[in-house]
Amino acid sequence: MFARTIHRGSRIHSYRSSFSLSNSLRCNNHSSADLLRREMSTETESIVARLKSSGLFQTKGLIGGKWTDAYDGRTIEVNNPASGDVIASVACMGERETKDAISSAYEAFRHWSKLTAADRSGRLRNWYNLLMAHKEELGQLITLEQGKPLKEAIGEVTYGATFIEFFAEEAKRVYGDIIPSPLPDRRLFVLKQPVGVVGAVTPWNFPLAMITRKVGPALACGCTVVIKPSELTPLTALAAAELALQSGIPPGVLNVVMGDAPTIGTSLMESPQVRKITFTGSTAVGKKLMAGAAETVKKVSLELGGNAPCIIFDDADLEVAVKGSLATKFRNSGQTCVCANRILVQEGIYEKFTNAFSKAVQNLKVGNGFDEGVTLGPLINEAAVQKVESFVQDAISKGAKTLLGGRRHSLGMTFYEPTVIGDVKNEMLIARQEVFGPVAPVLRFKTEEEAIQIANDTTAGLAAYIFTNSIQRSWRVSEALEYGIVGVNEGLVSTEVAPFGGFKQSGLGREGSKYGLDEYLEIKYVCMGNMG
Ligand code: SIN
Repeated sequence: MFARTIHRGSRIHSYRSSFSLSNSLRCNNHSSADLLRREMSTETESIVARLKSSGLFQTKGLIGGKWTDAYDGRTIEVNNPASGDVIASVACMGERETKDAISSAYEAFRHWSKLTAADRSGRLRNWYNLLMAHKEELGQLITLEQGKPLKEAIGEVTYGATFIEFFAEEAKRVYGDIIPSPLPDRRLFVLKQPVGVVGAVTPWNFPLAMITRKVGPALACGCTVVIKPSELTPLTALAAAELALQSGIPPGVLNVVMGDAPTIGTSLMESPQVRKITFTGSTAVGKKLMAGAAETVKKVSLELGGNAPCIIFDDADLEVAVKGSLATKFRNSGQTCVCANRILVQEGIYEKFTNAFSKAVQNLKVGNGFDEGVTLGPLINEAAVQKVESFVQDAISKGAKTLLGGRRHSLGMTFYEPTVIGDVKNEMLIARQEVFGPVAPVLRFKTEEEAIQIANDTTAGLAAYIFTNSIQRSWRVSEALEYGIVGVNEGLVSTEVAPFGGFKQSGLGREGSKYGLDEYLEIKYVCMGNMG
């Protein structure tokens, strides 16, 4: 199912560092009840009360099927970015809890990997059904802790759940091979077997979908997992884990630890029992994980930052181009790794496009994700807003022009105005790095060759978009772009059935689709002799 969202695209993002090896620990020893009484607004309180009565408001980690406090009793606060309310205090875990979670996953692997594919498939299907049955509550949790508008959050639940559905089906299709033997008395086989325990480190921008995109294929293959969700958005992960338990996924197969990100990350990397690390987040952290995995030679998949070009050619359909670029730029308030980061517009259509695009951006409604009609929520935190501000300031100081917005929103908190900046040059910071916010930098180009050169002039290579009415140009440019995903006349390209992943420093491996299973499988060659 395609990740359609409200007004066909508006999800925001800041710096997607779900796991910063150097982040400072925010664990504390306050009693959670104290904090909640003191700091939660009435509106948040009533949403939380509803979620609690549904049984999906978990605040402990999950180890070996048991909801577990941090061993030293520490907790970490989870905030609503729209209001600053403390929504919950969750267990702040570290090395000891992670080691126990790994041991549970290791133990559970012996049984889970031996179940028939049909049995695992059935349990994953139950999980999918439960996720869908609770999509409203899960959507509310996402809006509460991540900020995206409720309609978009419920869209994420459907998107996320489809990975479980898809891989429940694929579980039954992990085929091997028989190889024609070069010798008459030999028979040669290829078996595909689960890699073992998987460490899944996931970001805050899609608190559910980035988990299911990893856990779905892992469990389908027979692997077991230790999930480390972002400490900014653990509540959705915990609710999904509760539903996994209810769906018949045995204790220990899926574990969740959160809190002290660097310590948890290091424990996962150092353990020889963890055979695979899968990570979505910043390129800087991805590089550290890749280096860390070398010590125990783990399999690694990385879904890292992008710097997506969105190229509008003179021959594009203006309406299609505006709609598509709006969708890819403002989805999740610009906080996705496939959001357009640079809008390249050919000179013949530049004025027409920037006028129509700015008008469309002006209609976006910023606000609390629970409010009716809101299409853009807040950014995830203050650091994200400061990053956006510094990129905009750099561009303006170097000659770019603000066509719309360009400031913090009058709503305060971490709200930022939907912004369009014209006359951007590819050398500016805003075109070199992911802005991860609701800011559209527009660059002007003359020829197709120049557009391709600018588009590829980056170390990233995740997603790219082109808008043109020429079939020949669609093929030519798609082939020339050094990107893992290309949208042609379409701004929303994510779906569980297609491979998601990047070229160059945007990552390694693919998620979703039939290719996504390979990341969790070992290939074993069996040679049988004396068969003549
Ligand atoms: C991401 O931002 O990492 C994922 C976006 C998507 O799945 O479309």
